[in-house]
Formats: sequence, C-alpha cells, structure tokens
Amino acid sequence: MTEYLLLRHRNRGEENIADLDTYLSLGGFEAYEKVVTTMTPQEVIDIVKASGLRGRGGAGFPTGLKWSFLSDRFPRYVVANSDESEPGTFKDREIMEHNPFQFLEGLMICAYAAQAEVAYNYCRGEFWELTQVLESKVRQLNDRGLLGRRVFNTDYSLQINNHLGAGAYICGEESALLESIEGKLGQPRLKPPFPADRGLYQLPTVVNNTETLTNVPLIISRGPEWYKSIGTEKSCGPKIMCLSGHAKHPGNYETPLGITFRELIFDLAGGIRDDKTLKAIMPSGASAPFLPASDEVLDTPLTYEDIPKIGSQLGSASIILLDETVDISWAALKTMKFFEHESCGKCTPCREGTYWMHHLLGRINSDQAEQADVDLLGEVAQQVVGKCLCPLGDFATSAVFSGIELFQQDFNSHIPDAANGADNLNKNK
Ligand SMILES: Cc1cc2nc3c(=O)[nH]c(=O)nc-3n(C[C@H](O)[C@H](O)[C@H](O)COP(=O)(O)O)c2cc1C
Ligand code: SF4
Repeated sequence: MTEYLLLRHRNRGEENIADLDTYLSLGGFEAYEKVVTTMTPQEVIDIVKASGLRGRGGAGFPTGLKWSFLSDRFPRYVVANSDESEPGTFKDREIMEHNPFQFLEGLMICAYAAQAEVAYNYCRGEFWELTQVLESKVRQLNDRGLLGRRVFNTDYSLQINNHLGAGAYICGEESALLESIEGKLGQPRLKPPFPADRGLYQLPTVVNNTETLTNVPLIISRGPEWYKSIGTEKSCGPKIMCLSGHAKHPGNYETPLGITFRELIFDLAGGIRDDKTLKAIMPSGASAPFLPASDEVLDTPLTYEDIPKIGSQLGSASIILLDETVDISWAALKTMKFFEHESCGKCTPCREGTYWMHHLLGRINSDQAEQADVDLLGEVAQQVVGKCLCPLGDFATSAVFSGIELFQQDFNSHIPDAANGADNLNKNK
C-alpha cells in the first residue's frame, strides 16, 4: 500500500516540512533557482509540456499547453486556484497546510514561465486561518530574497499576494475567480476570450489549481521522463484522491493515476464502513453523474480518459462513496440544495432550474410526488443542460439524469403506483 503514497509531496512525511529551513535543507527551491538562473521561460514551458501534467482542478487540461497560450502582452499574471469548494474535495487545503513551500515554489516557477511578476493565491473564504499562515510563509520568502526584486541577482522580480474569497463555490470557476480578485461580484465571464488572452484586469493570465502547481518543482528537478513514468500514457503522474462518504478509512490518498476504484476503495481505504455493501460512487463530488458499484465500474482505472467511458468524470477526484443504506433520490436532493444555493443567478436556466429541481426533489423525498413530478424533474433538467453560461448548470443536472436512469427504484419508492420514470426521461432526452 505505501508504495502508492507520498510520491509527489516532497518529503511529506518529514517533520517540519512546513518550516522554510527544513524545506530548504531537503532541496526546496532548488528547482526555482534552476529555472530563474539557468533557463528561459520557454524552456520551462517545454519541460512541463513534455511531462504530460494535466490540470488537477477538474478539467484535466494540459498545463504546459495552457502556459504556452498566453497572448503577447504585458504585464501578465498567474493565479493559484485554492478555492477548493467542490463537495468532497479536501486536497488543496492539506497541501497548503502540510507542504506550503512546495506549492508556493510551483506557483513561483509558473510565474517565471509566464513572465509574470505578480502572482495571486486565491483561497476560499473559509481558509482564512490558513491564509494568515500562508501570508507569513510569503513574508519569509521575501526576507530570504526568494521573492521580491531581482531574485538571485537576476532581472526577475516576483511578488505573491494571498487573496481571500467570501465562500462562494462559483468563485472556483476561473473567470468568476478573476472577477472576485478585481473586487467585483463573483460571476463567470462569457468565454471567449479566455484568461490566457484577457484574464485578470483584462491582461494575459494563467489560472492553475493548487495541486497542479505543487507537481511542478519535482517535474523540474527530476525531469519530465520521471513524471511520465507514473500513471498512464494520457493521464500522467500522481493524483490525490479525496475519498469520503462510507469509506472505512476516508482521507487523501496520493496514488498514480490509473489505479482502479477497487484498489483505492478496498486495498487502500479498507472497504466500506461497517462492512456494508457499496451502492454508488460520486466520482467527482456533486458535479458528475453517479456511478453504480458494478464490477465494471470498480475495475475502471481512475484516469481522465477512462471514467468518461463509463458515463462520469474524474474531475478533481473528490470520490464520495454511498453504501446500500443511501436513497439516491435523497442524495440527489442534497446535491441540488447545494447547486441551488451556489448558482450565481447570472443566467436564467441555472438560476430557475436549480430552484425547480430542488423543489421537485423535495416533493419526491417527502412522499408528496406523483409520477408526473419525476417526469417534470427530467424535463426541467433538459431545459438546463447545455443552456447555461458556465458549467455549473450542467453539473446540477448530473445527479438528476444519472440518479433517475441508474436508480429509478429509489425515486419510484416514494411514488404510489410509479410508472417507468427512466423510460419517460429517456424519451425526453
Ligand atoms: C463551478 C466551477 C467550480 C470550480 N471550482 C474549482 C475549484 O474550487 N478549484 C479549482 O482548481 N478549479 C475549479 N474549477 C475549474 C477552474 O475553472 C479552472 O479550470 C481550474 O482552476 C484550472 O486549473 P487546472 O488547469 O490546474 O486544473 C471550477 C470550475 C467550475 C465550472
Ligand atoms: S450557469 Fe449558474 S453559476 Fe454559471 S453563470 Fe449561469 S447562473 Fe451563474
């Protein structure tokens, strides 16, 4: 089991790794010094491209490619996305709490590659205590000359600002996040233009997830081939799997991409709590379709390319386990309550649709619904999917479509004389 763990967090097990002297004594910031003093920004981008690193914030977009898209205008910015608001995700917090300098080093290397002299770390509002700690870490880096003017006596200067959000899930969406840093209401922008062209203050900007950036120092120091040797061809490297719900041993498991659900749940996490039977998996928090706990699903590798083949997404790997006691229509209700609350209200299908889907799921769960309500739920979801400004609207429909299709009985059990809800739903698709 342990061979899977601790691949990426440099000396994660070391006592005091969050202490700057300890981190430096273990080779910390050597990668940063190497890029600033001996490499061009383009060479750094080429190495990250060659490593196959894909974004850990949800979409799995190739990181080096993203960095190469920046428009040829200055100044530029880089932003670490530490909003971490997806239900069931708790990896970025652990990285920043336990190994803050590896994350900051990754952000600093990213800034150098982007030729940005100002970087932001956007933390969700609930991380206010952690943000204070990060502020002190940034001050230490300034005091040691690793940040500030003319680092390592070169022409390169860099400052890092920690920015605290106000606890809105939508501010994890990169364009809403940028609006929020600008002091505006955190609502997504119409895309294109993308942040690489018009990002923070309408200037070229890289936005990367905290975990993504934390991979970068080791890619520089150990080389892209080392990184590529972990995981699968299309999903390289290690990944932190956030396992929660009815796991016997929930927590963050850092594994190579490509281990199966079965290996993660049963070999690493000890199986299901109280030895109950696993019923369903939410592989990407609230945002992706439920998966049934079939053999096919359990033997599927956790990669960006394999999970879509079975009808869901890896996302940021916030894997929530639901055992046999869970009524999936109840799980869909809880999910929808979240999305109704977090919809920013900018576009009508999402604002109204999440309200109505929540209302209908509430009626079903209080045994006051008829078959027509389940059909209407599917119809409302149809009016939302593909019709919204940002992906949150689509995310909200995932639990409805997959819940009714895969766990029809859980919806029918609340309805007297229930007909074939899933059949009706399929007709509407
Ligand atoms: C509704 C919504 C919420 C999101 N929340 C987060 C988040 O909390 N953290 C994150 O890194 N990315 C989040 N994303 C994805 C970001 O928009 C963006 O793709 C990501 O930060 C890019 O980083 P990466 O390429 O390193 O993955 C969210 C996207 C959407 C649509
Ligand atoms: S889809 Fe929802 S969260 Fe996204 S912009 Fe529209 S209203 Fe806001």
